[in-house]
Amino acid sequence: MMNTRDRWRVYKRVSVMFFLAVVTITVVQRGSISVGAPFELERQTRMHASEAEESGTELEEKNDSYLAIKGFWKASRQQPKARSTTQEPRITEDSRPGTWDVSSSNCSANLNLSSQEWFRGLEDNFKQFMLYRHCRYFPMHLNHPEKCSGEIYLLMIIKSVATQHDRREVIRKTWGREQVVNGRRIKTLFLLGKPSNEAERANHQKLVEYEDYIYKDILQWDFLDSFFNLTLKETHFLKWFHTYCPRVRYVFKGDDDVFVSVDNIFEFLDSSSHDNNLFVGDVIFKAKPIRKKQNKYYIPQALYNKTHYPPYAGGGGFLMDGSLVKRLYWAADTLELYPIDDVFLGMCLEVLQVTPIKHNAFKTFGLVKNKNSKLNREPCFFKNMIVVHKLLPSDLMHMWNLVNSDLVCAQRVEIL
Ligand SMILES: *[C@@H]1O[C@H](CO)[C@@H](O)[C@H](O)[C@H]1NC(C)=O
Ligand SMILES: *[C@@H]1O[C@H](CO)[C@@H](O)[C@H](O)[C@H]1NC(C)=O
Ligand SMILES: *[C@@H]1O[C@H](CO)[C@@H](O)[C@H](O)[C@H]1NC(C)=O
Ligand SMILES: *[C@@H]1O[C@H](CO)[C@@H](O)[C@H](O)[C@H]1NC(C)=O
Repeated sequence: MMNTRDRWRVYKRVSVMFFLAVVTITVVQRGSISVGAPFELERQTRMHASEAEESGTELEEKNDSYLAIKGFWKASRQQPKARSTTQEPRITEDSRPGTWDVSSSNCSANLNLSSQEWFRGLEDNFKQFMLYRHCRYFPMHLNHPEKCSGEIYLLMIIKSVATQHDRREVIRKTWGREQVVNGRRIKTLFLLGKPSNEAERANHQKLVEYEDYIYKDILQWDFLDSFFNLTLKETHFLKWFHTYCPRVRYVFKGDDDVFVSVDNIFEFLDSSSHDNNLFVGDVIFKAKPIRKKQNKYYIPQALYNKTHYPPYAGGGGFLMDGSLVKRLYWAADTLELYPIDDVFLGMCLEVLQVTPIKHNAFKTFGLVKNKNSKLNREPCFFKNMIVVHKLLPSDLMHMWNLVNSDLVCAQRVEIL
């Protein structure tokens, strides 16, 4: 028989357990609903904070990032229901394979070609290209499937090669810095193949692996990094994006020797009304294939016999929206590889019947004709651009600091 005191004790114990159970369930649910973004945010705030402590000069930025994060929470709290009902199903219905599904590099040369007249007339580098043209996908050596988790506003994709450690280093400190701006996340990845010469391979490969161990921002595939293999870098990225990145709003893709203004990218995106089929850059229309053999971009008639290329954007830097990138993957799979990567992407756009937009803030084919012109080093000029080709590490750092200082520009520099 329980007396009232015993009964009271049991009652108390049961209610404490009930309370604990409710707390546990709530914590678990929170954890599983908010995978990704908030954790990532928290990590970034911490990174920001420690950076600021280290340098002592980034206090303003620290404040900025706190503001941004406050904004992010406000935005995500306004419509938590809409997120879970409209976004989740779209992802599960997607037919993405979920992992990189290429595990063998076994692709032998297409020797059928050597019996053909036109093939025997080709230069050696084109022969090499043609022999392996059908080898479309290679295994991954360094991968970061986690990079695309959660919502990403802008994904920065930078073509690089093993030996260019210093370029990547400066980009991470300048325009490629991962951050959250007004609740919009920016992520950065470098695309690499295998080092092309034997001597470089062993040493630089080790360095690349260590670099990736520290920064976790390198995608590397098992193909040779050569000029004609740049198109492979393009198609591998498209496939990678299709596989891992369901929720990326915009993609900036460029070289590792350019200056980029992230502020201006944001301003451009805020003011543009293109949400689908956005492809903007330094576009050339009606470019003619180059037939002079000495030229880097020479293309023999046997490879391309039309008089003009479709419109394409200079590969130094261009901007596109995430849904277009997914369709580009599909389009690329319908075409034979072409040795010039930016032209190849133009061919893919043609398949999709998307016309790229030319914008004057993208300067990927050089600035002004006169190489000694002061404009080439004028910070007020850079301040108004989105991409400027071409700046090597020390110049890039210097220009970045100038442009982001209290630079007073009398007026918008409108040239060309
Ligand atoms: C790769 O090719 C070689 C020779 O062509 C063959 O013996 C080997 O089984 C292949 N490996 C794979 C994984 O396909
Ligand atoms: C070479 O020719 C044979 C027979 O025509 C064909 O089956 C094979 O697929 C060709 N190889 C390549 C790599 O195209
Ligand atoms: C591209 O990479 C593959 C794989 O490493 C290699 O076999 C091929 O020769 C390369 N092509 C060119 C044109 O360099
Ligand atoms: C151009 O190339 C295509 C495909 O390679 C071929 O069918 C066509 O006959 C070629 N045209 C000329 C004029 O050489």
